[in-house]
Amino acid sequence: MINIKDIYNKNGKVRVLFVCLGNICRSPAAEGVMLVEVAERGDADKWVIDSAGTGNYHIGDLPDRRMRVHATRRGLSLTHRARQVRESDFVDFDIIIPMDASNERHLRLMAPTVEAEGKIVPMAHFLTGAMRHYDHVPDPYYSGAEGFELVLDLLADGCRTLASQLY
Ligand code: 4NP
Repeated sequence: MINIKDIYNKNGKVRVLFVCLGNICRSPAAEGVMLVEVAERGDADKWVIDSAGTGNYHIGDLPDRRMRVHATRRGLSLTHRARQVRESDFVDFDIIIPMDASNERHLRLMAPTVEAEGKIVPMAHFLTGAMRHYDHVPDPYYSGAEGFELVLDLLADGCRTLASQLY
């Protein structure tokens, strides 16, 4: 099982990759939420944070405009450009965090080694309290505003948990 403190003590960094389908809604939002979370803790230099999508439909795009609007209301600026997950991500990152079961399946099929597959930990693993009702971060693409707000609420909780595991 992944241990954030052990990774940090070994490498002096924890390298995290958030993964969803399009890399324009959930995972770039997770990247933005996590960047603020670690900055507020004074830990920005301890983390490398990125995001990618299993699909290739939106490569090069900014996050979905609706996601950017909802994120801006929470003081988050999302400037990531979408990219597709690649095999070298399993070398370049210590922990790879899919948003849902479909993203997780895709990553497990891609993982080049058993050790690499061990880096995959679903976002739901980091949810606490009432948020544990959710076993994945639902795709907001075809939802209304409430879907985007739910994503940001889930990510705030999960990223707080993840950042706290450094201690
Ligand atoms: P994401 O949302 O995986 O959270 O970035 C989606 C974005 C685009 C599509 C699906 C989900 N799409 O089908 O284009």
